[in-house]
Amino acid sequence: MANVAVVGSQWGDEGKGKVVDWLSQRADVVVRFQGGHNAGHTLVIDGEIYTLSLLPSGVVRRNKLSIIGNGVVVDPWALLDEINALQKRGVKLSPDNLKLAENAVLILPFHGYIDRAREEASGEAKIGTTGRGIGPAYEDKVARRAIRVCDLADSVCLVERVEQLLFHHNAVLRGLKAEEIDGKALMASLEELAPKILPYADRVWERLDAARRNGKHILFEGAQGAMLDVDHGTYPFVTSSNTVAGQASIGAGMASDCVDYVLGITKAYTTRVGSGPFPTELDNEISQGLGERGREFGTVTGRPRRCGWFDAVMVRQAVKVCGIHGIALTKLDVLDGMENLKICTGYHLNGKNMNYLPSAISAQAGVEPVYKTLEGWTDSTRGARSWADLPATAVKYVRHIEKLIEAPVALLSTSPEREDMILERDPFSD
Ligand code: IMP
Repeated sequence: MANVAVVGSQWGDEGKGKVVDWLSQRADVVVRFQGGHNAGHTLVIDGEIYTLSLLPSGVVRRNKLSIIGNGVVVDPWALLDEINALQKRGVKLSPDNLKLAENAVLILPFHGYIDRAREEASGEAKIGTTGRGIGPAYEDKVARRAIRVCDLADSVCLVERVEQLLFHHNAVLRGLKAEEIDGKALMASLEELAPKILPYADRVWERLDAARRNGKHILFEGAQGAMLDVDHGTYPFVTSSNTVAGQASIGAGMASDCVDYVLGITKAYTTRVGSGPFPTELDNEISQGLGERGREFGTVTGRPRRCGWFDAVMVRQAVKVCGIHGIALTKLDVLDGMENLKICTGYHLNGKNMNYLPSAISAQAGVEPVYKTLEGWTDSTRGARSWADLPATAVKYVRHIEKLIEAPVALLSTSPEREDMILERDPFSD
């Protein structure tokens, strides 16, 4: 397979960073295609922890081209901070090996402000966003008033773009009797930023096309998860981008057949950070144990993640909407030592059986999970590197998941460390 897309099959935090980093040894180019610095990808390399938000998880490896595609919303200040922090740790990063799509939309400081103010005003109804301005920036993009990376290169055009953008936002702020955005100050900060960001700006679609024609391997790195997709997720408790695999081509600027293999990263149980329906959520000592052993705290916000049993209905749906060919099952070791394990195999709603997650908010909130109970295991699976290292009941649990979600396990990750992995099928092989 020439090109592989990695997407989350649940509500994000499935462990994409480690898998992308591992796969990137076989890739020539790693591309982010949606989301922004709401993502938090953690890599553990020889005991050292790297947390990436905007940069593709391939940046830590040498001789790879990293690309931030047009589908990403880019906070340029956050990007420069992340680049600086990695450079200080000895990671080689420069405009030679990092390219930023010139048609990507910028997240500006007031986007974060609007995001947080809205959340605060929403009280109980809040979405639980990361507060990074992701939603407001995507809103400006589809409303055709956003500022893009390429606009920084032309100060005359930039003045016009800022005026158009603030014409809208200041009208809203005036209506709310809130302080208006100072256009001159915004212009000054963008002009100061331009020479630092523009060296990274590029026609990434052209570079990706050349890479494809030259037989290079491209790895598309998704952020968040299928259930946070703005169309297919638990709307409105979703992020503001398409997180499914179909977005890889649009968000990178490639043809729709650019992905040969879709790998769905899937946690061996379920977690969610932020508000919204979660049918298999637990609020007892089991969820507490999962949270503690799995270190389930948001990478970006530090919020504790909600935890629950594996939901095969939801993951099966993600397999269908993303066209997942195989999954990378992660964090199996967090289940070590549990006497029994439950898997959600269907839902009940108003006396009816369902084998899908309905779209309506009230139905999503009302479904009752139907469980199958499986025997757990006492031995440790942590760090296992072959199927023979796993207890028989752990293998049975994995096989059960494969059958229910209708997708095979390609990789099994058994600890946060880079090499702790059981490889069943290399997504890059034919
Ligand atoms: P936003 O993307 O900041 O607008 O947040 C919208 C929803 O997506 C909230 O429930 C967030 O907690 C969730 N979310 C955003 N990014 C991530 C992520 O990287 N992992 C898990 N959840 C995320």
